[in-house]
Amino acid sequence: MRILVTGGAGFIGGHLAEAFVEDGHNVTTLDNFEPFYDLGIKRQTVERCRTAVADCEGTYELVEGDVRDAELVSDLVADAEVVVHQAAQAGVRTSVDEPRKVTDINLGGLVNVLESAAQSETRRVILASSSSVYGKPQSLPYTEEHPTEPVSPYGVSKLAGEHYARVYDELHDLPTVCLRYFTVYGPRMRPNMAISNFVSRCYNGEPPVIYGDGTQTRDFTYVEDIVDANRLLLTTDAADGDVLNVGSSDNISIRELAETVRNRLAPELDIVYEDARQADAEHTHASVEKARELLGYAPSRSIEEGVEEFIEWYDANREWYEPLVQSS
Ligand SMILES: NC(=O)c1ccc[n+]([C@@H]2O[C@H](COP(=O)([O-])OP(=O)(O)OC[C@H]3O[C@@H](n4cnc5c(N)ncnc54)[C@H](O)[C@@H]3O)[C@@H](O)[C@H]2O)c1
Repeated sequence: MRILVTGGAGFIGGHLAEAFVEDGHNVTTLDNFEPFYDLGIKRQTVERCRTAVADCEGTYELVEGDVRDAELVSDLVADAEVVVHQAAQAGVRTSVDEPRKVTDINLGGLVNVLESAAQSETRRVILASSSSVYGKPQSLPYTEEHPTEPVSPYGVSKLAGEHYARVYDELHDLPTVCLRYFTVYGPRMRPNMAISNFVSRCYNGEPPVIYGDGTQTRDFTYVEDIVDANRLLLTTDAADGDVLNVGSSDNISIRELAETVRNRLAPELDIVYEDARQADAEHTHASVEKARELLGYAPSRSIEEGVEEFIEWYDANREWYEPLVQSS
């Protein structure tokens, strides 16, 4: 199958591209190498995808360009059977500081993808949405019917993106599926996220820093589970026009997470608490029943198992990854 992965040099897009190549697909990735964090991590991702080609039937092409470039997007979408749209300005805090940039990339880019797909023979557009669309929990775990009241410009951009996807599905008969990812982690994960941060600091004898009192809880999702959900959608129309949570369905408080990492790597360190950050969601926890029912999706790991696996990966890749995490 010919698949376009936008944001394919990024953390999640890179794992998708690599897995699709290994599955024997013809993958094109579009990425502008946005310097949101050290680009060395994205170069490693691209290298992994190029290496994957050697051992399988799939092909891999990297196009360096901007998803806001309508002409370029139109050409690439026209050649793809399925578009897996990951390109975005991620990060809640960046969205508070640079809301215009977030709107520009997350919505401008998405409309280019949808508009092009509506005019092509595209079978399906799969959109990376986020648990940030929920914002304030009235009940947990979140089901897809839970009210959406985002608390950051980022969450607003993801919710607006879902509405765009639905409207294109309804107006143009363009099959779209929105996946609400719950905080994703794993090999080559973005720096400045709780797990990469805690692990990196503890390895270097620096205490993990918690913003707020640490009672906030998160559903952390191992990146392989995100890949699985996207992979399942390549061949089924069961979720067309729909929105699905993709999480681990497990959750953990940030304090417990910091203690787990600290106890494993540097038990002598005391955890440091700083002021809570603006626009962070208080709690996230996914119900994945809908994805289970429509796709057969099943999360593969508990958070504790996934964190242990990430620490093992970090240890094996510390030489190149750690300096890039610390410079970001
Ligand atoms: N990582 C998470 O926890 C998480 C959670 C929920 C949703 N998401 C969503 O998943 C997607 C992937 O996130 P990620 O964690 O891999 O982030 P990432 O920053 O690693 O990946 C995004 C990629 O998009 C590229 N990009 C940004 N602007 C672009 C533009 N204008 N044109 C072309 N490419 C552009 C970046 O260079 C980057 O490589 C995003 O849509 C994000 O909002 C991520």
